[in-house]
Amino acid sequence: MTTIIDGKSLAEKIRSQIAQEISQLKAKGVYPGLTFILVGENPASQIYVKNKKAACDEVGIENFLEKLPATVSEKNLLAKIEALNKNPKVHGILVQLPLPKQIDTKKMLAAISPKKDVDGLHPENMGKLALKLPGLKPCTPQGVIALIESTGVSVAGKNACVVGRSDIVGLPTALLLLHQNATVTICHSRTKDLKEKIAAADILIAAIGKEKFIQGDWIKKGAVVIDVGIHRLANGKICGDCDFETASQRAAFITPVPGGVGPMTIAMLLKNTVHAAKENS
Ligand code: GUN
Repeated sequence: MTTIIDGKSLAEKIRSQIAQEISQLKAKGVYPGLTFILVGENPASQIYVKNKKAACDEVGIENFLEKLPATVSEKNLLAKIEALNKNPKVHGILVQLPLPKQIDTKKMLAAISPKKDVDGLHPENMGKLALKLPGLKPCTPQGVIALIESTGVSVAGKNACVVGRSDIVGLPTALLLLHQNATVTICHSRTKDLKEKIAAADILIAAIGKEKFIQGDWIKKGAVVIDVGIHRLANGKICGDCDFETASQRAAFITPVPGGVGPMTIAMLLKNTVHAAKENS
């Protein structure tokens, strides 16, 4: 029996708890605020920001959008970030990625005040994450952990395989799993025997960025599978990094795409923003 993990409904529950917390904060005069910086016209980024803004509206986070042209210079983007760092109404700053080629992404992320870094991607927050110190943590990895927790499967001692080593997802997710005492394998484009690594995984995190890449018969029977991928196929349908049809026949628990990780990433962004507002008001 396979259970499809309902990320949409878990995220709804979290959003309603956050909305309650925000009304209590507002009663004390704290109005959480989040600014999105959207550079250029990337259609996927436009949709992500629109969805994140709608979630802010739903829970009562004041939100602002700074749109900049794809041709913006590093200097002008830095000036925008620095102004927001100083703005007391803004508790969180989110620079939507990817950024255009002329911009050094790591430099921009490092310019955001670590206290307002609701994406958890500033080097200080990443360092804190590695050292298990309190700090803002990346959203998708937090969502992945909450989805695993929702299954009731304990992570300690399990073989966890993270396929993908990005700064946003793979690497921080591997750290969080390690902190929960999983035995963690991180796979990437240079990994040899990828199928063997995946076959040994009690917990599989697919964050490769290739549509339907992981096939059901690679997956250990009874595994927990969290699919971080999101792709639009030529027929307009959305799919993940796993071949859902075959993967769901092997996994005990699996997230759907859409409706799995995506809504949880947004819920964790709201959580981080409330945390930042509470810490810095
Ligand atoms: N682009 C895709 N995912 C993300 C994310 O989680 N944060 C930011 N800032 N950009 C993204």
